[in-house]
Amino acid sequence: MRFSTLASLAALFEFTTAGRWTEDWPFAGFPSFAKLPFHTCLVDNPEFDIALIGVPFDTAVSFRPGARFGPQAIRRASQRQNGLRGFNARAGINPYDNWAHIIDCGDIPVTPMDNQLALEQMNAAYDELVNGTTTSGNTAGALPRLVSLGGDHSVILPALRALHKHYGPISVIHLDSHLDTWSPDSYPSYWHSNTSEFTHGSMLWLAAQEGLINKGHCVHGGLRTRLSGDDWSDYEEDDRVGFHRIHADEMMEIGPRGIAERIKQIVPKNVPVYLSVDIDVLDPSAAPGTGTVEPGGWLTRELISLIRQLQDLPLVGADVVEVSPPFDHADVTAMAAAQVAYEIITNMVKTPLELETRKFFSNM
Ligand SMILES: *[C@@H]1O[C@H](CO)[C@@H](O)[C@H](O)[C@H]1NC(C)=O
Ligand SMILES: *[C@@H]1O[C@H](CO)[C@@H](O)[C@H](O)[C@H]1NC(C)=O
Repeated sequence: MRFSTLASLAALFEFTTAGRWTEDWPFAGFPSFAKLPFHTCLVDNPEFDIALIGVPFDTAVSFRPGARFGPQAIRRASQRQNGLRGFNARAGINPYDNWAHIIDCGDIPVTPMDNQLALEQMNAAYDELVNGTTTSGNTAGALPRLVSLGGDHSVILPALRALHKHYGPISVIHLDSHLDTWSPDSYPSYWHSNTSEFTHGSMLWLAAQEGLINKGHCVHGGLRTRLSGDDWSDYEEDDRVGFHRIHADEMMEIGPRGIAERIKQIVPKNVPVYLSVDIDVLDPSAAPGTGTVEPGGWLTRELISLIRQLQDLPLVGADVVEVSPPFDHADVTAMAAAQVAYEIITNMVKTPLELETRKFFSNM
């Protein structure tokens, strides 16, 4: 339904027979993300241009768990985004009422009992979802795009594996207080299994080993983690993995515009980009509901402003992860995550992946 004028908005509330029961208040009804059409996509295979997919997985965390409850909390926090008030004034569009067919794909059913099996499930699910069919004519040839709602951060690995099959190596913009390029050796233990190498701190290291990322053209934003030992070896390893580093403090020095400019110097034009937002990039005062809290982070307004300035990058996928509702207060973290997802979706609508762009990608 288009609300292009106030008159058509008013028409929604006319007391016609058809309109009699169409009011859908944010606090009522079924809480799909932004009250978008809901499908269990892995069962029904619907066509879509952009979809939200929940990944309720949190058994690869090193500290506080609870992110398995993230997707449901983010959906609940998104209820005021659609219907009456979906127009994004900074972008000049309502992303939910534009060319793209946007849906909520439900959750990937992931076992909490066995991480090796869970990874297998996530690999298979992303393979199917990424290789679906788009709805919209003006993106013919493009693949459907997913915004994942975590879940812990390890869910980026199966997402990148699926995307890499179509696009080749991907430039990752990783907004997080932590590196997440830690080699499995940085969790020293007498005990070891292959599965124990797959964690929410090592998955970008694993992604680089598998050649999934565009080395030298990936960037961390918002870093403030403490490092191992008493030297720079974690950063040296991060260099080898292929990331540039932008620290949390730089937000005070150069602001969101300066950070966006630095990111655009690192990420070349017209390469496939994946935007990953660990909600712990925000200061705990703005996002207490997360697993591995690091004081001294960005404000929600700074993060949103930064994402807005990245709107012309060709995003092939994105995620908002590490929202742990048991540690949240007044839904503040879930609401920040829901707003971040809305801004990412707006960017995807503003910058469609066109046939020519994808050809360019697959020729790389
Ligand atoms: C995507 O699906 C098509 C047709 O269903 C298939 O031929 C192709 O191999 C799939 N690609 C990948 C990377 O799975
Ligand atoms: C662990 O992974 C290595 C290399 O992929 C493999 O050779 C080995 O069999 C695996 N071990 C177990 C216990 O799965």
